[in-house]
Amino acid sequence: MADSTLAEVLTAEHHAIDGGIEKFTASSLRDSVQAWSAPLRQVMEALRRHIYLEEELVFPQLSNGPLMMPIMVMQGEHGEMWRRMADLDAQLAADDIDQSRRDEVIAGCTAMLELLANHNSKEEPVIYPHLDSDMDDDSQAFLRDFLVDGTIPDGWECARASLQ
Ligand SMILES: [Fe+2]
Ligand SMILES: [Fe+2]
Repeated sequence: MADSTLAEVLTAEHHAIDGGIEKFTASSLRDSVQAWSAPLRQVMEALRRHIYLEEELVFPQLSNGPLMMPIMVMQGEHGEMWRRMADLDAQLAADDIDQSRRDEVIAGCTAMLELLANHNSKEEPVIYPHLDSDMDDDSQAFLRDFLVDGTIPDGWECARASLQ
């Protein structure tokens, strides 16, 4: 990672998250909901952490200029993803899951992939070029450290997690 730009590292996270959800949508139902859904819960944790680091470590560094409006759009879309993940968590909390409920979860994942494609297609060209050029050195170093082993604080929610 030391040789990669921050833009490259965060773009790689996008691809890993997309890939994880795509792989899950192709998986067939296993014996227990827990076993079947573990990879999806893992990738949602990765997405929540990704949203956390953008909203707490990146956006505050870049939002006092021409990126203010694009960042507001990004936050709104993070909120949509956040609520979609809460819906998926609720669906996965069932003790038992049959084929039709499995199909509902997969439909939720497909909707999530569409949200991500739309979001990332703007975030990567509009926001990410500024990571390496417009964030100060300390903030870049802090973000690099966080990317290695940082964790999202318990109970943290994104800025637009709720609709109101
Ligand atoms: Fe992102
Ligand atoms: Fe984002």
